[in-house]
Amino acid sequence: MEATFAVLPGDGIGAEVTRQARDVVEAIADTYGHSFTFTEHDVGGEAMRRGLGPLPEETLEACRAADAIFLGAVGHPDFDDPTATERPEQALLGLRSALGLFANLRPVRVLPELVDSGPLKADLVTGTDILFVRELTGGIYFGDSGTSEDGDSAYSVMGYTRGEVERIVRLAADAATNRRGRLTSVDKANVLEVSRLWRRVAGEVVADYPGLEYEVLLIDAMTMHLLSRPRDFDVVVTANLFGDIVTDEASMLAGSMGLLPSASLGADGPGLYEPVHGSAPDIAGQDLANPLAAILSAAMALRHSLDLEQEAAAVETAVDEVLAAGMRTVDIAEGATHVGTVEMGAAVVEAVSSS
Ligand code: IPM
Ligand code: MG
Repeated sequence: MEATFAVLPGDGIGAEVTRQARDVVEAIADTYGHSFTFTEHDVGGEAMRRGLGPLPEETLEACRAADAIFLGAVGHPDFDDPTATERPEQALLGLRSALGLFANLRPVRVLPELVDSGPLKADLVTGTDILFVRELTGGIYFGDSGTSEDGDSAYSVMGYTRGEVERIVRLAADAATNRRGRLTSVDKANVLEVSRLWRRVAGEVVADYPGLEYEVLLIDAMTMHLLSRPRDFDVVVTANLFGDIVTDEASMLAGSMGLLPSASLGADGPGLYEPVHGSAPDIAGQDLANPLAAILSAAMALRHSLDLEQEAAAVETAVDEVLAAGMRTVDIAEGATHVGTVEMGAAVVEAVSSS
C-alpha cells in the first residue's frame, strides 16, 4: 500500500521520539512491502521561533493532504508567558478543530514487566487495560470565553450538543463491544446542566447496545475509583476537560508517561497520532527520552488510519519483546542500567524486521 505521513516533530523531545517512530514505520514498510512517504513540517514553539506562528498554514495543508499525522510534542518554557496571545499549545487545539478530530483514544495498559515501575503497588495495577475515549473538539476547550475589560473576571463556557455527545459515545460503545464489553461514562451531572445532557444522551445511545455492561460515574468519584479498582474499567468515555485530567492520572498506573500512545480521529480524513507525554524540555537532546509512546502511537496510525492491523500488531509485539528482553529507558529503569532513545528505537526496528 502507498501512504503519506505528515511528521510534525515540534518542541523538546518531539524530534527525537518521532524520528524513532518513523524508523519503525519504515521498517514495517520494508518488511511488509509498503511504500510510505514522510514529509516534515514546523509546529508549536519551533514554528513560532521561525516567525510562522504555532500552526503555519503550510503545516495544516500538509496535514490535510496526508493519510496520517505524527506529532511529537508542543510546548516550551520560553513561551510560558501567561499574557502572551500566541502559545505553542494553540497548534494542537488548531489541528484538532481544523481537522475535526473529535475522538481522542488513549489506551492505558499496564505491561506485566513494568508493574513495579510506577508509583502504585504492583498488585493494585496488575492487569489494568483501559481505553479512554476523550471528546476532543467540544466542551469547555472550545466554548465561548472572555475576560472583562478590567481583567478582574473571566469565563469559559462548557457546552455540548446532542450530536457531539452521540458520536463520541457511539464510538466508545463500539470500541467496548470489540473489547471486554464494559463502558463507563464520566460526567458531573449532580452539578452541571451540560453533564445532565451528556448523561441523558449517553444513556440513549447505550440503549442500542444491550450487550454492554454500562456504568456512569461522577468525575470526582472516578478519580478515586481509578486508583482503587483500575482493573474494573474497560472503555471510559468522557468530555474534553474531564478526559484531559483523568488521562494524566491514569498515566501513573502504567508507570511512565513515556509508554502511552494516543490517536485523535475524525469522521473522515487523516488521524493525528502523538505520545501522551509532553515536550520534556529538561531532557531534550540528551538521548534520554523514551520513544515507545511515539512508536506505539505509530502502531495506532497503522491500525486506525491505514487499516493495517497485522502491521500495527507487529509493532506492538516488537515493543513487548524489547521490554521482555529487559531493555529500559531511564524513565522505567528503576535504577538499573538503561539504554538511550536511539538504542531503544533501534531495538524495536530490529524486532519488527525479524517478525
Ligand atoms: C493534552 C494536553 C493538551 C490538552 C494541551 C497541551 C493543550 O494536555 O493533549 O492532554 O489540554 O488537551
Ligand atoms: Mg493533557
